[in-house]
Amino acid sequence: MQNNLDLLKGLMREHDNSFYIYNEKVIKRQVETLYEKLPQFEFFYSVKANPLKPILEFLTSKNIGSDAASAEEVLLSVEMGLSKDKIIYSTPGKQKKDIEQTIDKAIIVADSYHELEIINEVAKEQNKNLEVGLRINMNFNGKSSSKFGVDEDSLIENKDFINSLENIKVSGIHVHLRSQILDYKRLSDYYETVFKLAVFCKDELDFNMDFIDFGGGIGIVYSKTEENPLDFDKLSVECSRIVEKYNKDLNARLIIESGRFIICEAGEFVTKIVDIKESMGVKYLVAEKGLNGFLRPSLAEFLMNYLDSDVEIPSFEPLFTRRDAFEFLIPEGDNKNLEEVVLAGSLCTSTDVLAKNINLPKANIGDLVIVTNAGSYAYSLSPTRFANHKAPLQIYLKEDGSTIIA
Ligand SMILES: Cc1ncc(COP(=O)(O)O)c(C=O)c1O
Repeated sequence: MQNNLDLLKGLMREHDNSFYIYNEKVIKRQVETLYEKLPQFEFFYSVKANPLKPILEFLTSKNIGSDAASAEEVLLSVEMGLSKDKIIYSTPGKQKKDIEQTIDKAIIVADSYHELEIINEVAKEQNKNLEVGLRINMNFNGKSSSKFGVDEDSLIENKDFINSLENIKVSGIHVHLRSQILDYKRLSDYYETVFKLAVFCKDELDFNMDFIDFGGGIGIVYSKTEENPLDFDKLSVECSRIVEKYNKDLNARLIIESGRFIICEAGEFVTKIVDIKESMGVKYLVAEKGLNGFLRPSLAEFLMNYLDSDVEIPSFEPLFTRRDAFEFLIPEGDNKNLEEVVLAGSLCTSTDVLAKNINLPKANIGDLVIVTNAGSYAYSLSPTRFANHKAPLQIYLKEDGSTIIA
C-alpha cells in the first residue's frame, strides 16, 4: 500500500464513494527510470492505459509524448499542449474522417495499404505533402498473422505502390510485439530486430527513417512471489550497444511507447466493505464496488473459475495479465486473524466477485479494501455505469500532498 491510510479514509468519508487514487510520486519514479536507463530513446505514453488529464499534464511536463490510439486521443493530447511531432497516432481501422481530423495534429501511422491510400487522398485534397509512418507486422522468432500493420513479407511486392502515392512519404516505422516483457534479453533482441527492419526499409524500400517506434512491452511486476523486475541495468547496456551499432547511420528518432510501466503501479482502487454475511459455511465480504469499479480482478476470477488451478493461462492484454496480478489489502483488518472469504461486489450478478477463496485479515463493515496495480487499464476498461451505480471517483495525488478530483 503506497498511500497513507488516514488520507484514504478521509477521502472515502468526504466523497462517500469508491475511488481510484493515482500517486504522482510513483509516476515520477517510473518516468525517471526510463530516462535514466534508456537515454537514447524518447518515450510516448499510451493514453489508452489511463487518459486522466492530470496524469497527461504531468507527463507532458516531463516531455513525454503521446501514443494515441484514436482520433479522440490525438485531440486530447493536443489539448494537453503536445505538438504534432510528440503525438503518434496508430491504430487499425482509421477512417477518412479520422485522418481529416488529425492530419495537422499528429504523426499518422498507416495500419494497412488501404490506409496509406486514404491518407494520400486526404493529403491530395488538402494540397499537402505528408510524412507518415507504417506499422509493420514484423517477423520475430517466426511469422504470425496479425490484424495490426502490414506483413513484413509483403513490403517488397508493394514497394512500387507505396512509391506511387504522390502526396505522402513513408518516414518511419512502427512495430509492437506484446505487453509485459520482463526479460531484458527478449526486449533487446526485439529492439535489435526492429533496427534491422529499419535498415531494410531504408535500403530496399527507400523509406526515410526519421523515426522508429518500437512500441510498448516494458513490463512491471504483478506477482511479487513469481516475477522478477526487468533488469534495467542490463537492458541499458544492451540498448547502448545496439543503438551505437544501428543508429549511427540511420540517425532516427527512437521511440518507445509505454502505458502500464508508467502508470500501473501508481494506481490503487479503494472501496469499502458494506456487508458481511455467510452462506453454507462461506463468508462473503460485500464491497461497495466490484467489477463495476475495477473489471480486471473479476475477469481473472472468472477465468480461474473455469480452469484447473495449475493450467497456465496465457495473458490476454489488456483484459487479463495473470491470475495473481492484484493484491487485496484491508489495512484496518486484524492481521493476526486471517479468514478465507469471498470478496464480492454489490451488483446483482454472481460474477461480481473481486477475489474468491482468499485469505484476508478479519474485517468489519466500513473497513476499506484496497486493490493494487490499478493505474492502467482499470477505470477506462471497467463498466462503471453498470446497473446505474455511480461511477467511482478518480483522484490524483500530487507530490506535494494535494489532491485533484478529476
Ligand atoms: C501499439 C501499442 N503500444 C503500446 C501499448 C502499451 O502497452 P503497455 O501498456 O502494455 O505497456 C500497447 C498496448 O496494447 C499497444 O498496442
